[in-house]
Amino acid sequence: MTEVTGMNAAPDGQVPPSEDGGAPVLRTEGIAKTFGAVVALRRIDLELRRGEVLGLVGDNGAGKSTFVKILTGFHRPDTGRIFLDGKEVRFRSVKEARAHGIETVYQDLALIPQLPVYLNLFLNREHTSLANIRWLSKQKMRRLARQYLDEIKVSIPNIDAEVESLSGGQRQAIAVARATQQQAKILLLDEPLAAMGAKESAMIIDLVKDLSRNRKETMIIIDHNHTHLFELCDRLAVIQHGTITFDKPVKDTSIEELTDLMVSSYRAQIVAGQRERRAS
Ligand SMILES: Nc1ncnc2c1ncn2[C@@H]1O[C@H](COP(=O)(O)OP(=O)(O)O)[C@@H](O)[C@H]1O
Ligand SMILES: [Mg+2]
Repeated sequence: MTEVTGMNAAPDGQVPPSEDGGAPVLRTEGIAKTFGAVVALRRIDLELRRGEVLGLVGDNGAGKSTFVKILTGFHRPDTGRIFLDGKEVRFRSVKEARAHGIETVYQDLALIPQLPVYLNLFLNREHTSLANIRWLSKQKMRRLARQYLDEIKVSIPNIDAEVESLSGGQRQAIAVARATQQQAKILLLDEPLAAMGAKESAMIIDLVKDLSRNRKETMIIIDHNHTHLFELCDRLAVIQHGTITFDKPVKDTSIEELTDLMVSSYRAQIVAGQRERRAS
């Protein structure tokens, strides 16, 4: 059987070459997931190259978060396969996915509000869980935290400040910083700008841009704002009803094309809804 995966076609089981000649950093094949009667994902075939920033677009309920949660080991797919650097992986937990270099910034951030900024930056890693964090001296953690935040140009004047005293944008920046302290193989951002004002969004956008340009992070970003996505991404994919219906480099599409696609899908849903109501 021959599958068409994104823009590359390759026989089953073989890894299609990416532009740099190596295997794509991520490839998924036929990922499907149901929750009881709800089909969240029908079939997701996707590829991501190293250093690429992919924007995922889709209506509410299209399956974006479910796909991301499968990549992070939070959910297990019903069927389908995941390949990292050409090797098949199966994650049984978030911890396992993280051990493979898959980092996520959760919508609820998962920071500890009562702890200072510098400690929150170290809470991510298995070897520095609160229980055995003591091997790193407080001074060293503070120094490393300051150094890293400066390096990625995140402006937090006081790293001893408790996270709860910071703005939403600053907290999100810390969550992103924590996920990227060690370069992630893939960084997943599910609506990182949700509930953020214009100024705070701009701060996170700058951070994501910096991570992609200067640190070559490989990322998948979910965001409803097409303008943001065109600013941040190399490629855009649309998920509709649990499958990818559009997958193009940003340079080969436009905000108009993407918006038309989303609006026409929205219209089709309304028409289908009207037919259903008339039929009943
Ligand atoms: N844990 C869950 N239990 C039951 N249904 C779920 C669960 N997670 C997601 N769904 C359903 O799966 C579909 C896809 O959801 P989701 O992946 O969150 O979409 P999106 O992030 O694109 O808005 C929706 O119909 C949603 O209600
Ligand atoms: Mg979602």
